[in-house]
Amino acid sequence: MNIQNLAYALDQSIHNLGAVMVTGGSILALVDLEKRKRLAWITLSGWALQGATGALFGILSYSFYGHLPDIAGIAVDALVIKMICAVSGFFIAAYCLKGARAESVVFWRMEAFLALVAIISAAFLRWYS
Ligand code: HEM
Repeated sequence: MNIQNLAYALDQSIHNLGAVMVTGGSILALVDLEKRKRLAWITLSGWALQGATGALFGILSYSFYGHLPDIAGIAVDALVIKMICAVSGFFIAAYCLKGARAESVVFWRMEAFLALVAIISAAFLRWYS
């Protein structure tokens, strides 16, 4: 079994689950008012997971090949957008949980927007790299 492929596949699996947590969590919170607090924790954890597994892609590339993935143009733009979404999504979720504002519809609309922008950017990163 090729260890590189296995490492990438495992990282990608967790990264995909994180994408489900942030998109699913934020969209579900817009329709299920009762579970918003729990969904806020799921969404917060999802953003953290995306940051960690996204960084791990770079670490794997560096340790196996001695350099970061060779991407340019639209792929870089898409990656930067994803990183901005992950950082801002994480801090918005953390702020709302800390300030007990998980009930705020505005907060959940922002989270769902960031999650959708990130998942669309992932497609551009994939096909322009
Ligand atoms: C710090 C933030 C992030 C980093 C550094 C990052 C990095 C990456 C990298 C390097 C890939 C592999 C691209 C390839 O070669 O095919 C990837 C794939 C992917 N990412 Fe992220 N990502 C981040 C955040 C996110 C977020 C917030 C989402 C969704 C909400 C997301 C969803 C995806 C999906 C669905 C794929 C698979 C795309 C495909 O193969 O079709 N990522 N990400």
